[in-house]
Amino acid sequence: MDRRGDAAALETGSALSSVITGLPPDQHGRPGRVIALLNQKGGAGKTTLATHLAGEFAMDGQRVTLLDADPQGSALDWAQRRLQSGQSRLYGVFGLARDSLHQEAPEIALQADFVIIDGPPRVAALARSALLAADLVLIPVQPSAYDVWASHEMVQLVAEARVFRPALRAAFVINRRVVGTVIGREARAALADQPFAPLSAEVCQRIVFADSVAAGRLAREVAHHGAAAREIAALAQAVREALQ
Ligand SMILES: Nc1ncnc2c1ncn2[C@@H]1O[C@H](COP(=O)(O)OP(=O)(O)OP(=O)(O)O)[C@@H](O)[C@H]1O
Ligand SMILES: [Mg+2]
Repeated sequence: MDRRGDAAALETGSALSSVITGLPPDQHGRPGRVIALLNQKGGAGKTTLATHLAGEFAMDGQRVTLLDADPQGSALDWAQRRLQSGQSRLYGVFGLARDSLHQEAPEIALQADFVIIDGPPRVAALARSALLAADLVLIPVQPSAYDVWASHEMVQLVAEARVFRPALRAAFVINRRVVGTVIGREARAALADQPFAPLSAEVCQRIVFADSVAAGRLAREVAHHGAAAREIAALAQAVREALQ
């Protein structure tokens, strides 16, 4: 199956955005904010945090579109599992693993409050394109010095993008911190050397994240008052503040 579906067949961003949102273009409204979850390193938590952040904003009543820019299509798989298990649609998920993301995402944002881009590992051209579209780039990292260093290429890409877009905001998101521990001295030292800071909100290693995503659900749908749900709510709040 072509994961990119009909969306990829369209030629112009505005046509694409109308199809994606199902709404007529509103050229007068303030465009939504574009948030890209990027890290060239695989398995850092891009898809987990993208699906959850999108869910948090959607459940808050915002119009959200998630763009799956990863040819692996993990966010699309999540949406499909959700559909197949008869759960309600929270937000639209569309495959857009193309270097034209920077043209299409701003058009889609005309009819959304938030456009969340789930980035691919390794593919620098797609990451570059996402960086040109984003208001805020979030770089998930596990709290080890090694993982911080492994995001070096992403940090370089952000620096490159800022030559064209000085207002581009960027932050690390600590993901998979072991419950009950503080992040180690080495990881903190490695983060302190970076050109931008981690968000104050951190996400812990919790089985509910892996289990819920595998079932096409979100942690707060599985355990509404659980620690994972609180962490995502705090992350969404930190993101709103970072965008102000
Ligand atoms: N906070 C967490 N707690 C528990 N498991 C997590 C957490 N974050 C991510 N995972 C698990 O780690 C694995 C990788 O996460 P995810 O798919 O979100 O990473 P990714 O950066 O999107 O990977 P890729 O680069 O392959 O797209 C998945 O199995 C996911 O369930
Ligand atoms: Mg992924």
